[in-house]
Amino acid sequence: MDKPHQAMSDIEVLPAHFPIPGMGFLPVNAFVIKAREPVLVDTGTGIESEKFMKALKSIIDPQDLRWVWLTHDDADHTGNIQKVLEAAPSARLAANSLAVLRMSTAWPVPMHRVYWLNSGESISVGDRKLTAVRPPLFDNPTTIGIYDNKSEAFFSADFFGAIIPSPVQNADDVTQADLSEGMVSWASADSPWVHMVETGKFSQALEKIRQIAPKMIFSAHLPPARGKTAQLLELLETLPASTPFVTPNQTALEQILAQTRGGG
Ligand SMILES: [Fe+2]
Ligand SMILES: [Fe+2]
Repeated sequence: MDKPHQAMSDIEVLPAHFPIPGMGFLPVNAFVIKAREPVLVDTGTGIESEKFMKALKSIIDPQDLRWVWLTHDDADHTGNIQKVLEAAPSARLAANSLAVLRMSTAWPVPMHRVYWLNSGESISVGDRKLTAVRPPLFDNPTTIGIYDNKSEAFFSADFFGAIIPSPVQNADDVTQADLSEGMVSWASADSPWVHMVETGKFSQALEKIRQIAPKMIFSAHLPPARGKTAQLLELLETLPASTPFVTPNQTALEQILAQTRGGG
């Protein structure tokens, strides 16, 4: 875990970074929206459980949380879901129904605390409306991002993620070239189906986000990005026709292991 920081007056970031051998780092962010009914967006990774819970408590007393919004049920988003729900007895779990059912095969999800959402549906959290938005790219069918109409921020789940050279607090601290390369690689690796999509159809999906015009992007896998929505969408425009990302195979693993041993 990195040090939590405030990205907007009412939004705190719980950042972590995960090393990707030979490539850099993948940010792994959770967020707290300090709405009248406070919301935790995603729950970090299990490998950093203690640090995550400590970081969360440094931002808000979990007893005050009213909502935990799970963007999808991948392990890098559900790492501390059980611990959080235990520490936050007044919080309801907002998620897509499929995410809840899938998690129920691993642990007993308290169904009376669950709130099922589809893309386009909203919840009111006192001082603002949070609307579920399925992003143009996703690696899991249960994915719902969030558009927050008060902060005008889009919590985009895995969408807009990027593998970056070093952990930073702000997307502006990543060079344009690194951002471009890292975002296209991540998008192709995380949503390989995009190469089966017609460029025009994909553009239409991007256009929906362009029309929402969020002022701030809070991706789970990118440092917070202010005023960059149009630029980031542009970057992804040609993704369907780009060269597909090839995941490292055993030869690559052996090279990585040899380097690790050699490097000490
Ligand atoms: Fe994911
Ligand atoms: Fe993710």
